Amino acid sequence: MVVERGEGPYLYDVDGKKYLDFNASWAVANTGYGHPKIVEAVVNVYKKLTALSFTTFSSELVVELAEKLVAITPGGFAKKVLFGHSGSDANDGVVKLLPFYKKKPRIISFIGSYHGQTMGSYSVSGHKAQSKLTGLPNVVKVPYPYGYRCPFKNIEGQEECEEACLDFLENYILKTIAPPETVSGIIVEPIQSDGGDIVPTPRFIKELKRICVENDFLLVVDEVKVGMGRTGKMFAVEHSNVEPDILVLGKPLASGLPLSAIVLPAEIADIPEVSHLFTLAPHPASAMAALKTIEVIIEEKLVENAATMGEYLLNKLMGLKDRHEIVGDVRGRGLIAGIEIVKSKKTKEPGTKETAKIVYRAWELGLITAYTGMYSNVIELTPPLIISREHVDQAVEILDQAISDVEAGKVPDEVVIRFAGW
Ligand SMILES: Cc1ncc(COP(=O)(O)O)c(C=O)c1O
Repeated sequence: MVVERGEGPYLYDVDGKKYLDFNASWAVANTGYGHPKIVEAVVNVYKKLTALSFTTFSSELVVELAEKLVAITPGGFAKKVLFGHSGSDANDGVVKLLPFYKKKPRIISFIGSYHGQTMGSYSVSGHKAQSKLTGLPNVVKVPYPYGYRCPFKNIEGQEECEEACLDFLENYILKTIAPPETVSGIIVEPIQSDGGDIVPTPRFIKELKRICVENDFLLVVDEVKVGMGRTGKMFAVEHSNVEPDILVLGKPLASGLPLSAIVLPAEIADIPEVSHLFTLAPHPASAMAALKTIEVIIEEKLVENAATMGEYLLNKLMGLKDRHEIVGDVRGRGLIAGIEIVKSKKTKEPGTKETAKIVYRAWELGLITAYTGMYSNVIELTPPLIISREHVDQAVEILDQAISDVEAGKVPDEVVIRFAGW
């Protein structure tokens, strides 16, 4: 599909076909496409100053944004912000800074996680799609509580799986191969999105924080995908009432312009020996886009809308689970939801090909979605936060039709052969 333009929750291809976008460019377009307030402000900045390297000069907009992020993110301690272009480079910065600051080499991350493509962020990632390349040797990966398919045998249910994962980390890993005196921090996604839109209970992150405090290492929360209002709170970690030591932001932060932010203790940001500098980050236009994005999210009550529409969406998705044998599980928080496709509810065998076909068929019917998961069998929904009930109704109706068509064998294998199974 070759995209020509976007408007609100819609994308238009070069042939003029209109699509309802429930992917939002992978959770980037939280404010919808082409919000006039953001576009106008960005254009004005770019007209005044097309290039500025923050490595040499300062910019009022960048400073204003840093102050804003420090003010709105959880954490009452002295914080600073390091900017970059992408979620990958931000997580890479964490991988550089954390062991150096704590003088402890190891980082703990989760199997199934996705933190990016650069070497450091790739190394802490634990997605199956990244399993062919070995990364840095200082990372220990532990199971994430995937309640529907708990990695520990004979454990059923989300809470039970969380308990098993926490116990494995605290009473096995930290007591054997990664003693606390070698660990500088844990990096975690509050909802493991690319790993299959796995939604832990709020207690899970709270418990991770406790483990960090008790063992003298830091909690890094990667909200590149789920931050900025998506989960029905401005930051997903707020559901757990936890102050992360480091919060990583990206994707929707500047409504589509390249920008990432590590919000971290000033003490770490000020380490003179380890830098996190990029010639072009942050562009003042990106900083303006982020300031306006935050303004729009607050003024238009998009956090509240994400909570309300998210609940409405999840209820409707439950209906799909009741109606279709191949819908094994649905889960979500706010406006991020996952529909896990299986061959049958009883066997839970992942329906990888079926998932790709549903996404393809939904696209034909005018709805854009994507799939995630360790078995590429979870349809992910991350619509813009501006959507209404009508958009949810339309999306679920199309999904219902697409699932029925796949169940009825109406979508041939050939159409998905080239892209099934990331
Ligand atoms: C949780 C999370 N962290 C980091 C990244 C990497 O961000 P980027 O693609 O902007 O480098 C992603 C991208 O999908 C993500 O979902």
